[in-house]
Amino acid sequence: MTQKTYFITTYGCQMNEHDSERMAGMLEADGYAKAAAADEADVVLFNTCCIREKADTRLYGNLGHAKAIKDKRPDMRIVVGGCLAQKDKSIIQQRAPYVDVVLGTHNLASLPRLLSESTDEPAFEILEQTEVFPSALPARRKSPWHAWVSISIGCNNSCTFCIVPAVRGKEVSRRLGDIVSEVESLVSEGVVEVTLLGQNVNSYGRDLDGKPLFAQLLRALDTVDGLERVRFTSPHPKDFRADSVAAMAESRVVCEHIHLPVQAGSDRVLKRMKRAYSRERYMEKVRMIRDAIPTVAITTDIIVGFPGETEEDFQQTLSLVEEARYDGAYTFQYSPRPMTEAAGMTGHLPKDVVQERYDRLTAMQERISLEHNLAAVGRAEELIVEGLSKKDPEKLTGRTRTNKLVHFRGSGLSEGSFCKVRIDRASPHHLEGSLVERGRPATARKLTLPLASTGSACTSC
Ligand code: SAH
Ligand code: SF4
Ligand code: F3S
Repeated sequence: MTQKTYFITTYGCQMNEHDSERMAGMLEADGYAKAAAADEADVVLFNTCCIREKADTRLYGNLGHAKAIKDKRPDMRIVVGGCLAQKDKSIIQQRAPYVDVVLGTHNLASLPRLLSESTDEPAFEILEQTEVFPSALPARRKSPWHAWVSISIGCNNSCTFCIVPAVRGKEVSRRLGDIVSEVESLVSEGVVEVTLLGQNVNSYGRDLDGKPLFAQLLRALDTVDGLERVRFTSPHPKDFRADSVAAMAESRVVCEHIHLPVQAGSDRVLKRMKRAYSRERYMEKVRMIRDAIPTVAITTDIIVGFPGETEEDFQQTLSLVEEARYDGAYTFQYSPRPMTEAAGMTGHLPKDVVQERYDRLTAMQERISLEHNLAAVGRAEELIVEGLSKKDPEKLTGRTRTNKLVHFRGSGLSEGSFCKVRIDRASPHHLEGSLVERGRPATARKLTLPLASTGSACTSC
């Protein structure tokens, strides 16, 4: 009998990337192998996102394509999981009745069962909430040297623009000892870098016995032998306190990069967003971080065109960007989402106004990113090699501890190995350099086949 195959397309954020790795892990434990393309697979999965409206449209386009393949190969199974499935279960049933399995964000582990139940009838199952942190699932990791590690799921905040609490449920933290054990086990498999995942990593532990703090978790990971780099996403400015900054500054492994989403620079807009900090409180945190970790790179998320945003409010965002001097920013045009308070607010802005503000903001951020990167020219930076450069296959790409992408010429360096590169040139989104030293080979393991993916940061739109 020939082996059954699967193919996963992932939208959205790192949580979804990690969930896709776990879906792949469960399927492989059930005897499936990864197909080279969706067109050839027995099971085609879409792990969806609904953070902005474009993500919805995109899914239905892709489902239409999958249906055309299923018409030719009726045995093919189509699975829709993730946040849009959680939001839209019945809509998917109506708009795409040929979908075989729909599962939400709270029942990932049910995938093998739902697949086996869907041979005659479609199997649709969405749960409302997860009460305890889900038990560990096998993961087919995309990378032999990097791993996502979930520290909490869900979100207890109520940012008025955001659909995440509605589709990911309330916050549930994972026990500190379980996180450390998973990291130790990953390191024993050759992992040198982990990224801790949570919607608000700084509220980690509040629901656990003994209330372990995020800072304690960072310090505990510092003692894991063989672990070289720890990243995390995302901290929430309102909960990011001096103890976490001190743990970062004193840690061997925690990287000098922090993604600290600000969303807007105007106090009036921040209030309407219910972000629970003022511009000044946010800037205090930025200063505290820079004082404690002078080499830190700070990045952010910004929403342009929130309902009621005036030109004056937007000027406040521009002046905050100038003051905070971010190394980079993910900039988004506000998109009204169902089940959110902002969708019902007055003052929704015309598309052309939002676009024009967005263009001004991105131009400013590009200039500042370039200024930061130009300052790195001439410096020697330690990189972990990530593979061949996508732009120029003659070159390799690596990442600094500050999360900057560097393209450089070098041969015989395997993925996951360390090296030192002198920075020669800079552009807003990457650096170019020359190899000066090979060092600290971290893993001899070879690359595994990557999962299909739309990228790392939130690429849903
Ligand atoms: N938990 C993270 C954010 C997760 S969503 C945090 O609080 O930082 C990732 C980003 O998507 C947000 O930071 C925000 O900038 C953007 N976003 C969320 N909802 C949006 C919406 N309705 N329209 C536009 N951008 C949105
Ligand atoms: Fe959304 Fe706010 Fe929660 Fe982040 S903290 S996931 S923006 S509600
Ligand atoms: Fe869900 Fe992440 Fe998108 S939590 S809505 S996949 S940004």
